[in-house]
Amino acid sequence: MDKLASLCKRRGIIYPSSELYGGFQGFWDYGPMGVELKNNIKAAWWKNMVQEREDVVGMDASIIAHPRVWEASGHVEGFHDPMVDCRESKARYRADQVMVYMPKNDDGEKFLFAFVEGDPEAIAKKTAKMTKGAFTPDDCTVEPLTHVPLELYPRIVSPDSKKPGTLTEPRQFNLMMSTRVGAVEKSQTDAYLRPETCQALFYQFLNVLNDSRQRIPFGIAQIGKAFRNEVTPRNFTFRSREFEQMEMEFFVSPDAAKKQEWLEYWRDERFKWYRSIGVRAEKLRFRQHEAEELAHYAAWACDIEYEYPFGWKELEGIHDRGDYDLRRHAEYSGKKVVYRDDLTGETYVPHVVETSAGCDRTLLVVLCDAYAEESDPERTVLRLSPVVAPIKVGIFPLMRKDGLPEKAREVQQLLKSHYTVFYDELGNIGRRYRRQDEIGTPCCVTIDHDTLEDNTVTLRNRDTLEQIREPIGPELVGHIQRFLDDMAAEK
Ligand code: GAP
Repeated sequence: MDKLASLCKRRGIIYPSSELYGGFQGFWDYGPMGVELKNNIKAAWWKNMVQEREDVVGMDASIIAHPRVWEASGHVEGFHDPMVDCRESKARYRADQVMVYMPKNDDGEKFLFAFVEGDPEAIAKKTAKMTKGAFTPDDCTVEPLTHVPLELYPRIVSPDSKKPGTLTEPRQFNLMMSTRVGAVEKSQTDAYLRPETCQALFYQFLNVLNDSRQRIPFGIAQIGKAFRNEVTPRNFTFRSREFEQMEMEFFVSPDAAKKQEWLEYWRDERFKWYRSIGVRAEKLRFRQHEAEELAHYAAWACDIEYEYPFGWKELEGIHDRGDYDLRRHAEYSGKKVVYRDDLTGETYVPHVVETSAGCDRTLLVVLCDAYAEESDPERTVLRLSPVVAPIKVGIFPLMRKDGLPEKAREVQQLLKSHYTVFYDELGNIGRRYRRQDEIGTPCCVTIDHDTLEDNTVTLRNRDTLEQIREPIGPELVGHIQRFLDDMAAEK
């Protein structure tokens, strides 16, 4: 992750927020390449989930909604994480992410070393070092702090401390970020920045239903910012305090068997979408939630997980939200929220199948999946699918003389309305290729002395390094499209 984060910074993909001021934990800025990559991910999702379907429509709601929305949604009451503080280091942790090493042969005296969950190998090494080899992870079972009885806390050495007994008891901490709305201080209203984007899709359900001529089953989709006061933002952008979600709420009849079919349908569709943007199948898996892990709104949930450098973790959740949200909004607003099927005459409160993906997390997955270090030739390369690559075509005159730059500019003119292109004439050609490899540009077009003779250019394939010659002219656009399509299909 450190190497990836450093590449992201060097190549204008992701910067720590407010870096001039030392950064601001849990917030990130996307640079010139990052914003292209993110826009491409969002466009691919929107095309797949909205534009190519007849049964899903889009929305773009405000980030701040009436505060009662969050009472109705259950977030005021139930959107908590258990949190513990270390009295010595002043560090704060999410209790379920602190792992405690419990010796198998416990004499009731031994220190119990605690670590923030993460790379198991790194933790194993650290355990051996901190315990001076007295015990290794093989001699222990690992328990989340939330499962460890309070009477053992005096023996726990917290992750950033060297002595035991510094951890406080877990306390519930609400993750919603609050703000104040209104120009006059006295009459300001407390409000929240939305912790999930989907609530507007529930409280606008009737409007969209009436205006879009949809019938159940149908969905409403949205991409937008969400905010959570995460106790321990970490692993680069994986857990941030400000992030974007790509959510779709699919309204179905309460029939349990039909709903299960839709849950499985959407679970499989979403998996296919990650494949379509080039994520390797072997790095993706499903994980169904146990009853005790279900969020307050969910009756069934299945995550799509990815194997990040720090282990298998959630990428997207597919949830059965039942009729929880529509019923709660009806209750809290005092309005009737029901659906009447004109064909059958049936009236009911629809159930909801939700697909909830993180845009920043998808971007992180795409980067982790594409990152490669190669020795022959020595290079770092992002093997991004052309579908999401920030720049599709790099354009280089071999040299800055003999009319080559002028010819290269002609090629740039020809291509720039079709593809995001990057023109570069500075430095040696090998170095220019390396720079494009590092941002995942799939195709580089080079204009050399042969171009002046036969009006052809070379197209260099980022992954195979093969070069082919194609003529300059309107047909070059089509050749490049096929070139990119073939590369995308190989992913
Ligand atoms: N509406 C349901 C919902 O919000 P969630 O599992 O809490 O469900 C859905 O979040 C997705 O949003 C996650 O799978 C993840 O991709 C993304 N996400 C959630 N919290 C995040 C955070 N703190 N930072 C980055 N992405 C996050």
